[in-house]
Amino acid sequence: MKIKLINEDVESDLEIVVLKSLKHLDKNEKKSLVEMNFSPQGEDLHLSMESKKIYVGIKSFDNEDIKIAMANVIRRINSTKISNVKISLIQDLKELKVSAIVEGLLLGIYSFDFYKSTKKKKKKLNLFINCKDSNKEFEDLQNELVKTQIICKSVNKTRDIVNTAPEDYYPKIMAKDAKKIAKDNNLECKIYKEDYLKESNMNAMLAVGRASRHESHLIHLTYKPKNPKGKIVIVGKGLTYDAGGLSLKIGDNMISMKCDKSGGSAVLGIMDCVNKLNLDYEIHGIIGAVENMIGGDAYKPDDILKVRNGKTVEVRNTDAEGRLVLADCLCYAQDEIKDIDYIFDIATLTGATIVALGEYTTSVTGHSEKMKNKMQIASKNSGEFVGFLPYNRYLAPTLKSKIADIVNSTGSRAGGAIVASLFLDHFITKENKKKWLHLDIAGAAYREKVWGYNPYGGSGAGVRLILKFIENLK
Ligand code: BES
Ligand code: ZN
Ligand code: ZN
Repeated sequence: MKIKLINEDVESDLEIVVLKSLKHLDKNEKKSLVEMNFSPQGEDLHLSMESKKIYVGIKSFDNEDIKIAMANVIRRINSTKISNVKISLIQDLKELKVSAIVEGLLLGIYSFDFYKSTKKKKKKLNLFINCKDSNKEFEDLQNELVKTQIICKSVNKTRDIVNTAPEDYYPKIMAKDAKKIAKDNNLECKIYKEDYLKESNMNAMLAVGRASRHESHLIHLTYKPKNPKGKIVIVGKGLTYDAGGLSLKIGDNMISMKCDKSGGSAVLGIMDCVNKLNLDYEIHGIIGAVENMIGGDAYKPDDILKVRNGKTVEVRNTDAEGRLVLADCLCYAQDEIKDIDYIFDIATLTGATIVALGEYTTSVTGHSEKMKNKMQIASKNSGEFVGFLPYNRYLAPTLKSKIADIVNSTGSRAGGAIVASLFLDHFITKENKKKWLHLDIAGAAYREKVWGYNPYGGSGAGVRLILKFIENLK
């Protein structure tokens, strides 16, 4: 789809009309919509080829409502032969934001048909946004369009990676994608394989990947602008498949576990646009790309693993593997990068996060109220849902082990998302405690249904959220 801003009205096959009420319509238009039982508040859609208009109802003029409306409209238009569409920035006497319109269109039109033997023909769609009566400068609107296109392209790339089958997407492929992204965006790229993990005592990460026929990869991408304002580190869980290991997942629980690379995929998505967006922070994207499988060489419940920082972990459940991989990756990050301003880890870490907050919402934990406030604002601005889970003094001791420093699983499901975060806290150095947030995207990264402008499958969770967090730091 080609989106173009214009400064005057043009001829088109169809015009998108956004309605919160029927109040400002002319009499005939109103009459025909009433006859069709069109309800704006019910987010109805009505396409009239007679008047060459597609009407879409919205609950409010909030950006999220605009995005959802645009997603609904573009999916409908995409199923027709129509190719030239226009929309005016002024709708129902209100001025819509270019970024909300474009985000709804680009994220809403996404579909993943890579594995379909007969693919839908990608049709040419031209979408004109008429900015004639806007209160803003055309150049500013143009910049907003370009920026939104860059971000949405990255979100859709992240979705593609997450949706790719585990047989086709394993750690080496993730490393290959990282190299390509580095080349395209002028980033530094370091790829480490298992010999490095051995040398560096990253035994937890090594153990998780041992039964896989695919070698584990540690990926480190760096964006270094001139005169950076500070340093940001993002560490992603890149489990290209999580079968659970010897604590094998049961029944349907294994289905969709290709999504366990969503944190790492979000890191790739973010790193793919930091240069294009000209961000003024040095940004490090680190990914632990590993496959958690079963086999004669698999790591076992009862094994004791020594993490890069020397701490020992008693394995009580091989399905709590993400925290083991992240433990080593977080140690690597803090050894290699000094004077960090913000450090995030992003992971589909626990089913418990879905139990706590429901589907769609990312759980956020950490020690810094200031950083959590910033994350709350980034959530509001980006449209990604977050919920904050609290630590308490009685939960941390539940991770104590009788024979090692800590266990990787307490055996209790209560507060599982918080306990997992407290496990990671053991691998955050004292000086970085207040600079760290843990994002558990298990509920938001992958759903087997369409929700708003998110498709079936990968949603690209975390990309817009973290980019907004960084953008807001100015
Ligand atoms: N990858 C899963 C978490 C997950 C669950 C992601 C649902 C996406 C959707 C993770 O590795 C896992 O299996 N966690 C266990 C932890 C438990 C064994 C302590 C879980 O959540 O049950
Ligand atoms: Zn697992
Ligand atoms: Zn996992």
